[in-house]
Amino acid sequence: MSGSTTELPHQRDNRKARLDSLYERLDSLDLAPYWAVEKHREDHDEDGQVLKGRRAVPYVWRYADIEPLLHQAAELVTMDDSERRSIVLVNPGMAPVRATVSTLYTAYRLNDPREIMPPHRHSINAVRIGLTGEKNFTGVEGEPITFGPGDIVLTPADAWHNHGNHGDDFAVNVSVLDLPLSEVLNAASFEHDYREEEDGRLVSRREQSARFHDDHSSRTYGFGGLRPRFVSHARGSGQHSPMYVYRWERTLALLDSFRDHEGSPWDSIMVEYTDPVSGRPVYPTMTFFGQLLRPGERTLAQRQNASLVCFPFQGSGHSLIDGDRFDWRPYDAVAIPGGAWYEHVNDSDTEDAILFVASDEPTLRTLGFFRRHGRTADGEVVALGVNG
Ligand SMILES: [Fe+2]
Repeated sequence: MSGSTTELPHQRDNRKARLDSLYERLDSLDLAPYWAVEKHREDHDEDGQVLKGRRAVPYVWRYADIEPLLHQAAELVTMDDSERRSIVLVNPGMAPVRATVSTLYTAYRLNDPREIMPPHRHSINAVRIGLTGEKNFTGVEGEPITFGPGDIVLTPADAWHNHGNHGDDFAVNVSVLDLPLSEVLNAASFEHDYREEEDGRLVSRREQSARFHDDHSSRTYGFGGLRPRFVSHARGSGQHSPMYVYRWERTLALLDSFRDHEGSPWDSIMVEYTDPVSGRPVYPTMTFFGQLLRPGERTLAQRQNASLVCFPFQGSGHSLIDGDRFDWRPYDAVAIPGGAWYEHVNDSDTEDAILFVASDEPTLRTLGFFRRHGRTADGEVVALGVNG
């Protein structure tokens, strides 16, 4: 803008007025300026504005707050009123968008004893984690899966599934979906009219008929390194794991077997749930981890652009996220937005702390965006590799 140095004061005033008028006109036409002539004015700091907008913030939701609300909702809203009765974690930085972090949606749900919902399916990938009750139930494409605390059940994109509870007690579970991501991509869709073939024609059904043994996933894929040859591994779209349930006892056993290993200074002892056929994360959009923090253990700080939701399952501790302290206990949910520096601390000197972690890392990796850095004990910032 070399011409501006020769402007007379009245011309500069005129230019300012004309610029303001231009900004107004752009705004009225749903257009935005992207140039940097007045960085000192916050409303025209273009780089700042590009990065602004809705951004998830670090946050913790406490199960002690949520649990009584789940019971109240179950009293007030029966399955006759609504097939859905979930309490959604809405990140304060994303509201009114129902997102827990920018790409992931999380909801807690309580099922009454012996309550089974009709089947539905959607283009969204989801995972359901048992919290309380031994007989949470999800039928997935004809595989009837009963699950307890810590077990995780996949309901992949386009897989018909129906949720419920086969037990005589209340059962609580929490689910994580890639819904906000699929909404951004205009890829979210739902179907509720479940049909099965009967006498050569399709008829609507309230429940899925079982087409697989109720132990199909664990028996077929629960022995890492061994794969049955006589079972078809082609399930659903082929874009996700064919193993629809991962039992918590296996995760715990693997974590425990490594407790004497030095682990990663940034993650301690962390294992990833994988597709047993491809070795990849269970979904193309989301991945999941079990993480053991040994008594008194504290991880070094790291920052990644993947967004995380962490669910403590055992023990208690706290996380420092961008300098703020977030205490957690079992079944809480901690949002760690991409880009935040964070570290975890097990506050007990005698008990383990075990977390279940959901991450949108595969999406970022696929698109070539994934970045992860850690701070060393000396305070140096280093790039962390794939398994770092
Ligand atoms: Fe669903």
